[in-house]
Amino acid sequence: MVTDKDYQIATKLVRGGQHRSENRETSEALYMTSGFVYDSAEQAAAAFRDEIDTFVYSRYGNPTVKMFEQRLALLEGAEACRATGTGMAAVFGALACQLKSGDRVVASRALFGACHAILTKILPKWGVITELIDGTDLAAWQAALETPAKLVFLESPSNPVLELVDIAAVCDLAHDAGALVLVDNVFASPLYQKPLELGADIVIYSTTKHIDGQGRLLGGAVLGKASFVEDVFLPFYRQTGAAISAFNAWVMLKSLETLPLRVAAQTENARQVAAFLYNHPKVKSISYPGHDSHPQHDLAKRQMSGFGNMLAFEIDGDQAVAFRFLNALALIDISNNLGDSKSLACHPFTTTHANLSDADRASLNITPSHIRLSVGLEDKIDLIADLESALAAIG
Ligand SMILES: Cc1ncc(COP(=O)(O)O)c(C=O)c1O
Repeated sequence: MVTDKDYQIATKLVRGGQHRSENRETSEALYMTSGFVYDSAEQAAAAFRDEIDTFVYSRYGNPTVKMFEQRLALLEGAEACRATGTGMAAVFGALACQLKSGDRVVASRALFGACHAILTKILPKWGVITELIDGTDLAAWQAALETPAKLVFLESPSNPVLELVDIAAVCDLAHDAGALVLVDNVFASPLYQKPLELGADIVIYSTTKHIDGQGRLLGGAVLGKASFVEDVFLPFYRQTGAAISAFNAWVMLKSLETLPLRVAAQTENARQVAAFLYNHPKVKSISYPGHDSHPQHDLAKRQMSGFGNMLAFEIDGDQAVAFRFLNALALIDISNNLGDSKSLACHPFTTTHANLSDADRASLNITPSHIRLSVGLEDKIDLIADLESALAAIG
């Protein structure tokens, strides 16, 4: 019998995980309910002993959320998935559910600001030892993993300047050292990079980004083997309240149906925008994994099946010039969100990565001239015209 797992990606994203109620609805049902009822007190007691498979409370699980989780698991090729209220709830929960005082985490230092804060400020308060290294350097991973570690955490491409980590090579080193590998796969999107196939153990998303894709809702997801997601993460998730709302899960479930179309069109726009910026005299450098000027372009070709919609570039000028450029944009919005159908530009130095010290920003190569651009679904002609006139306006 053909199952959801046998379908191609586009089919999985339209059909996968659908559970029709007795009303035979075409579109997936939205179960806006906090609780569920039982036929008897005995049934309720059995449900709380996990002896019967039934929903008990939407902080634990919900039928709409379950459809979203099953569809995401099919997309990722993961045994199990749990959806969370935000991407940061996914990152924090996936780390905190398995760490205790004295454990050591090795991470690539090129991280989203909030992930950096979890690793450098929150976990160390509880006695977890964290070491941040240059994730592009395999020798640095090897050296760091000579000391026992419980977990490896990385982001590739990284936010905001799109550094890559060789995921397969780092997984080999981590596994030899007995550590599990968590990958925050937001920038690549689940379509263009498959960390589990590259050897990772756990994959994390902010579904706020490409998966919603229209800038409406917050959400996140943790995916991996059932022995991790169901046995280690789920007990933590249930008790600490990381659940996503059924409404958010429903919107994102429907968004998954169009994910491949949206991300492919955004990626093609990003390719054209990168080519335009590369040739512009007021642009000092661009960082786009799909452009052959990216120092890790060969690695990108090896581990990504598409290069995504995110890019960063340095204006030829200081922070004031970068601000003049952003303020001169007429179509592209100034916003720190990403993956939206609307093109969004931000200045990471003073926004997403403002909490980092000068030394940390310098080590990550985040300069006051950097602009991060999330390319949307507008026509590339209008996007390039907007960039061109804003670059002309900086003088
Ligand atoms: C790489 C990365 N990870 C995690 C997050 C956090 O996601 P959320 O804002 O949904 O909590 C973000 C958000 O920008 C991100 O860019």
